[in-house]
Formats: sequence, structure tokens, C-alpha cells
Amino acid sequence: MHRAATIVLAALLFIPLTSRADAAKGKTSYDQRCASCHGPTGAGDGPVAASLPPGTVRNLHTGPFKFATDAAKLKELLQKGGAALGLNPLMPPAAGASDEELGHLVEYVMSLRK
Ligand code: HEC
Repeated sequence: MHRAATIVLAALLFIPLTSRADAAKGKTSYDQRCASCHGPTGAGDGPVAASLPPGTVRNLHTGPFKFATDAAKLKELLQKGGAALGLNPLMPPAAGASDEELGHLVEYVMSLRK
């Protein structure tokens, strides 16, 4: 009986852990989709940013954030892109990202904020 209870408990613990947004997975996606502009650590200093006027690409640690002030709005920005929200159109939507990938990205990018 104890063994069965242990299995049930393990299952209950396992489900929320696996379905939770994962910042480590978000970092992999960030490195592919965002680092060229926002830089390897999010400081807004990627190679593309270097060719734009200073301050064009946002520092993801400090902001200021014009629209993406919380996790839900950050997700909306990643779905729609800057142009749709009155931001700089150079900020692209995360094209083709699944809802799960967006969740990981949001988790990682929110973790960068100071
Ligand atoms: C081609 C360059 C480029 C890429 C790639 C890019 N961004 Fe941006 N991002 C920008 C620019 C430019 C801005 C500034 C927008 C503005 O000030 O209107 C910005 C702004 C932002 C902001 C601040 C928005 C606000 O509310 O002020 C966040 C957060 C952000 N980007 C996250 C991301 C994430 C996450 C990715 C990858 C999925 C990404 N960006 C990919 C160029 C880029």
C-alpha cells in the first residue's frame, strides 16, 4: 500500500514540474532568436545592435519596458512583434514558436530583469 501511495505522490509531483515553463529551455531559444540583437546576456549589445543607433535595442536587464511590463505582455510582444504594438518594427515576432516555446522564452527573459 505504501508503495502505491509513493507512486501516486511521485506522479503528482512530476506532472507540474514537467509542464512548467523552463528558463533553461528558454535560454536555448533566446540564443537562436534574440541574442543577435539583445546580446548573449541580454544587455542589448548583440552584433545587429552594434550597427544601429545606441539604445535602439533594449537592454533586457534594465529596460525601460514600453509595453512588455509583465509576463503576459511580454508573451503578447513575442507573438505580435514590435510593429503591431507601436514599438520599433525591428523587434520581430518569434515566428513559428509554439505556445510551449513562448512560455520558456518568457520565463527566461523575465528572469533577466533586475
Ligand atoms: C532584429 C533585432 C531584434 C531581435 C532579433 C529581437 N529584438 Fe527585441 N527588440 C529589438 C528592438 C529594436 C527593440 C526596441 C523596441 C522599441 O523601443 O520600440 C526591442 C525590444 C524588446 C523588448 C522590450 C519591449 C518593450 O516593451 O519596451 C523585449 C522584452 C524584447 N525586445 C525581447 C526580445 C526577445 C525575447 C527576442 C527573441 C524572441 C527579441 N527581442 C528579438 C530588436 C530585436
